[in-house]
Amino acid sequence: MLRGKIIVVGVTGGIAAYKSAELVSRLRKAGAEVHVIMTPNACNFVGPLTMQSLSAHPVHVEMFGESKLGGIDHIELAQRAHLLVMAPASANMIAKAACGLADNLLATVLLARKGPVLLAPAMNTAMYLNPLTQANLAKLKQLGYQVLEPGVGFQACGDQGPGRMAEPPEIFAACERILSGMRRLEGKTVLVTAGGTREPIDPVRYIGNHSSGKMGYAVAGAAIEAGARVILVSGPVSLEPPPGAEVVPVGSASEMYQAVMEHFPACDVVIKAAAVADYRPEQSSEHKIKKSGGDLVLKLVQNPDILKELGKIKGDKLLVGFAAETRDLLDNAAEKLQRKNLDMLIANDVTKPGAGFGSDTNLVAILYPDGGKEILPLLGKSEVAREIISRIVALLDKKTKE
Ligand code: CTP
Repeated sequence: MLRGKIIVVGVTGGIAAYKSAELVSRLRKAGAEVHVIMTPNACNFVGPLTMQSLSAHPVHVEMFGESKLGGIDHIELAQRAHLLVMAPASANMIAKAACGLADNLLATVLLARKGPVLLAPAMNTAMYLNPLTQANLAKLKQLGYQVLEPGVGFQACGDQGPGRMAEPPEIFAACERILSGMRRLEGKTVLVTAGGTREPIDPVRYIGNHSSGKMGYAVAGAAIEAGARVILVSGPVSLEPPPGAEVVPVGSASEMYQAVMEHFPACDVVIKAAAVADYRPEQSSEHKIKKSGGDLVLKLVQNPDILKELGKIKGDKLLVGFAAETRDLLDNAAEKLQRKNLDMLIANDVTKPGAGFGSDTNLVAILYPDGGKEILPLLGKSEVAREIISRIVALLDKKTKE
């Protein structure tokens, strides 16, 4: 899969730099053409000669030095590479990237880069947990950079906690996954629903739920990364949509139903990550309901089950649902998958730590109609989204072969 692929490995100054030597070696053994760019600080931790021997290409450090890469060649390398991996990505380089600074060769190549970038952060726990670093990483993720979360454990400085760079085999697997999933949804249209719906009681009040929209937005981002045209039917959320998504804002479940039905014919895949309200007030008052002193009784009527309706008319489209459960996760999810005639269902127990509403991570099980299931480890929502997209790609491939 990596044969013939051009991969730029950017190495920044940190003790984990020694591990990048193993990464470079693995990538090259797998047939990739590897070019290494080191920051001047990285050279304090590993010798450029090590990287040169392992990559079999000159190592680039200086912006205006003797390197063949001086002048505008870095722009060419930034554009030609199939993937740029920064491992380790130091707090300093992450901050530079988030600000668009280009004061060394690696930062410049990164700024000129248009294709996929994978960051493997590595730093002291306090630096990693510092809200500035977290904000920088969040900004980069929002812009489409892929971030391989660091591991938790003993650090070279003696501290314990998150900040250890992901191990080389893990970074290698992420490279494979990115390169295999790249543009695999080119030519496909994916409809994603995200966020919760709001069912109006009167002009100032509504019935809603805790959905933040993070999972759906991450799925939309991953589908765009894979080359799809993405229509994002979104309930009200406080998130920036992924660049490139065609956003259709909706409020209530009925509005979502209409928007989904309107765009459904143009889609190849529908991913329903939205938390749709099952009930709405039978009547929404035209004016603000005044408190009259007594109790207020609302009659709720059922909303259409959008996904179930799609299941009846899906034809050869791929339908992916989500299930938010608080108990009997797998049994409830399996029943939902059958009842709604889905091709895949992503189930999560929203009561589990690190899973569900508002969290940046998720713990999900993926279920298939033939009874197959996979349980993914606790991952960042963007990672979960990429895993989901890679499974959708596999299902589409299977359908094409059938
Ligand atoms: N869904 C939908 N329309 C609804 C309710 C749910 O399209 N009116 C979709 C959701 O977007 C999700 C899936 O159905 O992909 C499952 O949603 P969930 O709330 O877990 O299940 P429900 O079908 O509402 O079942 P229950 O409330 O009994 O758990």
